[in-house]
Amino acid sequence: MHESPWPIRIDGLLFREAAEPDIEALLAFRNDPGVNHFMVRTYVDPDELRRDWLAVPSSPTDYSCVVERDGEVVAMGFLDIVDGVGQPGHPTGTDGLIGYIVDPRFGGEGIGAATARALLHAAFDGLGLRRVTAAANADNLASVRVLERAGMRRERHARRALWHHELGWLDEVGYALLDEEWTALRGTSKPEMCL
Ligand SMILES: CC(C)(COP(=O)(O)OP(=O)(O)OC[C@H]1O[C@@H](n2cnc3c(N)ncnc32)[C@H](O)[C@@H]1OP(=O)(O)O)[C@@H](O)C(=O)NCCC(=O)NCCS
Repeated sequence: MHESPWPIRIDGLLFREAAEPDIEALLAFRNDPGVNHFMVRTYVDPDELRRDWLAVPSSPTDYSCVVERDGEVVAMGFLDIVDGVGQPGHPTGTDGLIGYIVDPRFGGEGIGAATARALLHAAFDGLGLRRVTAAANADNLASVRVLERAGMRRERHARRALWHHELGWLDEVGYALLDEEWTALRGTSKPEMCL
């Protein structure tokens, strides 16, 4: 179990673990149809959402965060430690998978881009991971832009790989970043850590 990489502050946003009072705010946009149009996991049962988010502080693999601006929850970020692949004996717990959802009321204000940066910072500088990946529908232009703006490298375009209940088989794009790439990207600028 790692120490939590949160809280951190970037661009006026506070990234922190969720607590009970946040659950209603998360529920208010997690099942929004415009959000679920782009999610592989669509409807999330409210009790399950509450249980999952409140379990994060004691999870050895889930380092998801809520994003707060001026005291209001405006987005959620997902960060899971996953096992890489390889022959028996390969190191485990070295890779991360990120994702994010911005409350649609606050879309287009740079919150998605800042969240991706915060998740990469948490994964590499906080948890010491070696490789982080993310995936999106190829036609999710906002998410693709968020990942590219965060400096992630497209390394996969899987054709008709992802089933969508309204649109059928969709292309999926995969992005990745290694720790040394992050170090080069980040330079010397570090987000403000809050203790
Ligand atoms: C994807 C998502 C997180 C983007 O968040 P956001 O806060 O609106 O994004 P930002 O304001 O940081 O914008 C990031 C970039 O995407 C671009 N963008 C935003 N909405 C866009 C859209 N509908 N079409 C094309 N580009 C778009 C912005 O112009 C910006 O590009 P720039 O850096 O060149 O200026 C948000 O739309 C969302 O939560 N969508 C639903 C859930 C989802 O798709 N999650 C990701 C699953 S992989």
